[in-house]
Amino acid sequence: MSVAPCTEVEELEAQQPQQPTSDFEFTRRRFLQTASTLTAAAAAIPGVAVAAPAESEQKRAITLKINGQSHTLTLDTRTSLLDALRENLDLTGSKKGCDHGQCGACTVLVDNRRVNSCLTLAFAAEGAEITTIEGLAKTPDPKEVSDLHPMQAAFLMHDGYQCGYCTPGQICSAVAAVEEQKRGALSIVSFHTGHTDHPEMTDDEIRERMSGNICRCGAYPNIVAAVRAVSRGVSA
Ligand code: FES
Ligand code: FES
Repeated sequence: MSVAPCTEVEELEAQQPQQPTSDFEFTRRRFLQTASTLTAAAAAIPGVAVAAPAESEQKRAITLKINGQSHTLTLDTRTSLLDALRENLDLTGSKKGCDHGQCGACTVLVDNRRVNSCLTLAFAAEGAEITTIEGLAKTPDPKEVSDLHPMQAAFLMHDGYQCGYCTPGQICSAVAAVEEQKRGALSIVSFHTGHTDHPEMTDDEIRERMSGNICRCGAYPNIVAAVRAVSRGVSA
């Protein structure tokens, strides 16, 4: 069966006798005619021209609290938290993997909850406590393993990385995952295993809770080992 090209279809439509339509019925042709008439009218009225806002109109001052310090910036209101961190504040620990919420490389903590910073507007995080990988350690300038956050130390101890690109996101995500389990937040695995009163941090739970963080090097067994150790209170 051959399909008539679009222009042919429109010509055929034009040849059809006009069917009576109710007040609320629009034909496709009438809709397009109305839409183009309205657009032309809007463009013709001075001051109502459809124009992109000037660049300065899209920028606003913002104060972000990151790793305990306040930073005041002027940002385009559409800036992602990840770009604000990396491009404006030189906090390049959080990585841009996909920029689409699919890999977890950009994971940071916002009020102790993990978020994909590539999908979070910087303005949506104003007023919150933001923690990045740079702010996790116990001291601002860690010199010893004992200065690190226990999850950082566990990743070191268990070789939970290869190239390291996903690691800041993995660690931030793991910190939040352990806290989620401690306060009894359930995952799909908790329902499968029947542990809905208080989920246990089994390897299956760890894998499920960390499933938003992709490691292209495949360091998963060692990542699970590191998270397991921290969740059981085993220090590195
Ligand atoms: S960079 Fe944000 S999820 Fe991949
Ligand atoms: S360590 Fe290379 S992507 Fe995870």
